[in-house]
Amino acid sequence: MSSTSAPGTPILQIRDLVVTYGGAVQALRGVNLTVDEGSVVALLGSNGAGKSTLLRALSGTLRLHRGRVERGEILYRGENLKGRDPARCVSSGLVQVPEGRRIFTRLTVEENLRAGGLSVRERGGRSADYQRIYDMFPILAERRSQRAGLLSGGEQQMLAIGRGLMSRPSLLLLDEPSLGLAPRIIGQIGEVIREINRQGTSVLLVEQNATMALRAADTAFVLDVGRVSLSGSADELAQSDAVQRLYLGHGTDESAERVAARAENPKKQLTRWSE
Ligand SMILES: Nc1ncnc2c1ncn2[C@@H]1O[C@H](COP(=O)(O)OP(=O)(O)O)[C@@H](O)[C@H]1O
Ligand SMILES: [Mg+2]
Repeated sequence: MSSTSAPGTPILQIRDLVVTYGGAVQALRGVNLTVDEGSVVALLGSNGAGKSTLLRALSGTLRLHRGRVERGEILYRGENLKGRDPARCVSSGLVQVPEGRRIFTRLTVEENLRAGGLSVRERGGRSADYQRIYDMFPILAERRSQRAGLLSGGEQQMLAIGRGLMSRPSLLLLDEPSLGLAPRIIGQIGEVIREINRQGTSVLLVEQNATMALRAADTAFVLDVGRVSLSGSADELAQSDAVQRLYLGHGTDESAERVAARAENPKKQLTRWSE
């Protein structure tokens, strides 16, 4: 649970963050972003915008990818994250669910969850941790002894999120949880994100699927080639012409009927969905 400080105070502040890879490619070019305690923040942007890079900077995993913070600072609960290694990030409550799920396919569902809980020092409450996840994802309870590789894509994503929750995050970092999933499953993932947040966890949700992300989030930022180009409340951004045009597939010159028809059939707006 996150709440040692009041809602409205930032749990995360990113200031003027510049990140390069291999000393050459500038992936982030001076990013400013804030996540308030107890909120869901969406970070939207197309492929290559720098979304995963930002999460890597937060989870201490940049250097595994030959990336480096060149400038700026990241304050997590007021403390500078500079030089903090991945294990310490997790134990301080910053937990990333990486892009592409990366579950252990040969281990069972429950073994995957156990692996997620290894970072939690105290023993007490471990069975409550499993129960919380099984309540949230009943399908994982049914499949707890099955090999994780046998789960569907959506179930694997839920397992990846569940594994992250086992580390008891204060700020959960989700990297494109909707990727490659069917619209119905994406809707469920949006609801799960709201539920996780209701239970007291702040969330930074990276997505290309603006429809789902803006529904789940309180506020949102749009990243455009390493810079924040837009930010505001999720409702405001969902209404903005730029977001509609770029991420919701709505041209401003379209008739209201066509826009409404697309909203009812999201498959047509987001061609990256594979199902
Ligand atoms: N390990 C890496 N080495 C070099 N360049 C990288 C590496 N990872 C990402 N990049 C580059 O950094 C930019 C941002 O990538 P990324 O953060 O993965 O974007 P996104 O997650 O928004 O798709 C892209 O130009 C990408 O090619
Ligand atoms: Mg990415």
